[in-house]
Amino acid sequence: MDQLIIEGGSPLYGTVGISGAKNAALPLLAATLLAPGLHTLHNVPDLRDTRTMLNLLEILGARWEREGQTVRVDSSHLTGREAPYDLVKTMRASVLVLGPLLARSGFARVSLPGGCAIGARPINFHLKGFEKLGVTTRLEHGYVEAAAEGLLHGGTVYFDVPSVTGTENVLMASVMAKGTTVIKNAAKEPEVGNLIDMLVAMGAEIEGKGTDRLSIHGVDRLHAAESTIIPDRIEAGTYMIAVAAAGGKVTLTGCLPIHLSALTEKLLLCGVCIETTADSLTVSCPEVDGRSICRPCSVDITTLPYPGFPTDLQAQFMALMVLGDGTSIIHETIFENRFMHVAELKRMGADITIEGSRAVVRGIGRDKLCGAPVMATDLRASASLVIAGLTASGTTKVSRIYHLERGYENMAEKLRSLGAKIWKVKA
Ligand code: EPU
Repeated sequence: MDQLIIEGGSPLYGTVGISGAKNAALPLLAATLLAPGLHTLHNVPDLRDTRTMLNLLEILGARWEREGQTVRVDSSHLTGREAPYDLVKTMRASVLVLGPLLARSGFARVSLPGGCAIGARPINFHLKGFEKLGVTTRLEHGYVEAAAEGLLHGGTVYFDVPSVTGTENVLMASVMAKGTTVIKNAAKEPEVGNLIDMLVAMGAEIEGKGTDRLSIHGVDRLHAAESTIIPDRIEAGTYMIAVAAAGGKVTLTGCLPIHLSALTEKLLLCGVCIETTADSLTVSCPEVDGRSICRPCSVDITTLPYPGFPTDLQAQFMALMVLGDGTSIIHETIFENRFMHVAELKRMGADITIEGSRAVVRGIGRDKLCGAPVMATDLRASASLVIAGLTASGTTKVSRIYHLERGYENMAEKLRSLGAKIWKVKA
């Protein structure tokens, strides 16, 4: 199994390009199942998760090819309607094929995802949403079977909590339903907006993009289209936090700062300097004793649906707060078990106590973390351990980095190009 070896203590300088968003690429790839023809998607990151989704499309009968960051999917002749256990267990987002398969053929069978490292993560909102559109769902042998007699029809779907993939799944199921579907308390994440743009380019009629109320007027058919994946705001946010922690000055190109305002506000409070243009962002630390480095002011965060502070940046922000000048309260409200990185950060010397859904992080200051062998438990937890390793003295070995490779394109290479001492090795 591969490991990352990090020699901490080098500040980061230079420019790094941000990849396409994993969490936009997955629903947009699934949406190619909606209409026959050749779909072209640009800026698709080459990640473990996008490869898994392409595998799944292939199992369903689609053909695809990749040329650089462009992926072409031909979904003219679908031959399957089932997402098997072996795939779903490696990537929960496989459930995103439910909506498009239902819309295209009125039937889908998908292995029910189990819990994962960050929480139980049920899909009951997705299934209740489909039921409002005339779909019958049942659970059999660990699989969800969803079927509609005849055409799906419009309906009103209310989400108790604004679920990102739930909104995407119901959107995709409803675009060709008879009549109008209204999704209330819909997720407003930019990735949902990216999917709406693709569906509209395919001929769908959708109102309310960027709001929590979406109206979908069903159309008779859709056609293949060309779309571009938005930049990955979580990857960009991870590098912003890495610079704040390790020191230095880095420009992120090909990103959308407008999607990062919650993090930007918090980093400014920490004492980090941030300059933005429409599609780039420069993060720098103030000079102290001739070193571009800061001891961040400790600030509190609460994770919330967009535009609130993203849960997908909570672990990375915690690694920064470990270096803070006081106490920071980190309140995780989206997932019930997203503090798996705490035990590993403590092994490196962090002072953190968990109280229910809150972590109390008592800053230990700069140059106090100590490199150690640590284990990645999920994608974003892995990124927080890398950030901690960049600031720690000595060597940090991060194992189980397949988690990291699910969602970060060439992270070690990108960090190395900024001056970090980080290598991927075979354990
Ligand atoms: N929820 C339910 N029932 C449902 C759906 C969700 O109870 O049917 C609950 C969840 O358990 C959670 C909350 O609602 O407590 C919100 O979950 P949501 O459905 O929004 O999460 P998701 O769609 O499964 C996506 C991202 C996650 C990201 C969350 C929150 C994708 C493929 N995944 O998951 O990304 O953390 O939204 O923003 O878009 C990651 O990239 O590391 C990652 C975990």
